[in-house]
Amino acid sequence: MVKQQDAVFRQAYPAPPYWVARFDVANPPAPGAFVLADLGGPLRQALFPATIDADGFTVMLPPHHPATRLLPGATVNVLGPLGQGFRIDGVTRLLLVAEIASLPPLLPLLEAAPAVALVIEAPTRAQLPPPDRFPPAVELTLVTRDGSAGHLGPLESQDPAPANLERVMPRLVELIAWAECACFACPNDRYPALAAIVRAARVQPAPDFAQALVQVPMPCGVGACEVCRTQTRATAQTQGGEKHACIDGPVFDMLLL
Ligand code: FES
Repeated sequence: MVKQQDAVFRQAYPAPPYWVARFDVANPPAPGAFVLADLGGPLRQALFPATIDADGFTVMLPPHHPATRLLPGATVNVLGPLGQGFRIDGVTRLLLVAEIASLPPLLPLLEAAPAVALVIEAPTRAQLPPPDRFPPAVELTLVTRDGSAGHLGPLESQDPAPANLERVMPRLVELIAWAECACFACPNDRYPALAAIVRAARVQPAPDFAQALVQVPMPCGVGACEVCRTQTRATAQTQGGEKHACIDGPVFDMLLL
């Protein structure tokens, strides 16, 4: 049975390009899992943790999200934890890859393995977070689609780079070859191309070597409304077909999407 809990909103503050909101709750969600919060609108809102501790969690949200307008001390009814998060037990070399708007659910993994590499892609330099916001031990690769900072994106491009710019693809392939597990948070339509890069970079990657957070609306969170249906592929080991992101995901083996 899915649990409801009362979370207590503590504070919200800007951390461009996001806002950070802090909730105290008895059972916070694991990385990649979520709660559905009643924030006063017609539908509950999915909240994915960006940091997790014994007393609760923080979320990183777009400016103007309804959670940023709560009053400190407000009680918020939440459903969950819900869903299947990232599966990284025992991983020692972890690669995280995100488009900037999708990055927050990967943030609890920054210190989840002895060695972590993080690749962040943004449209342009101004939308990249400052590097000092990440733990110093994290190996950071910044990517911009316009080449204004870091490597030139997009992640999937193999086109030759203009003079003085370095395409990110060789670096990404190198990191995929280095990693024991790679977790991706990007728009869903980018996953097939990213999966092709993984298949090219590794010989027979193990199940769950590449995991992807699927982003779909999840209004009920319990497999009842069918809104979050996600198509997966069959393999010799797994039965494919339609899955529910809210209960079978939202983290899936990217090579099965
Ligand atoms: S959110 Fe309703 S079935 Fe998944």
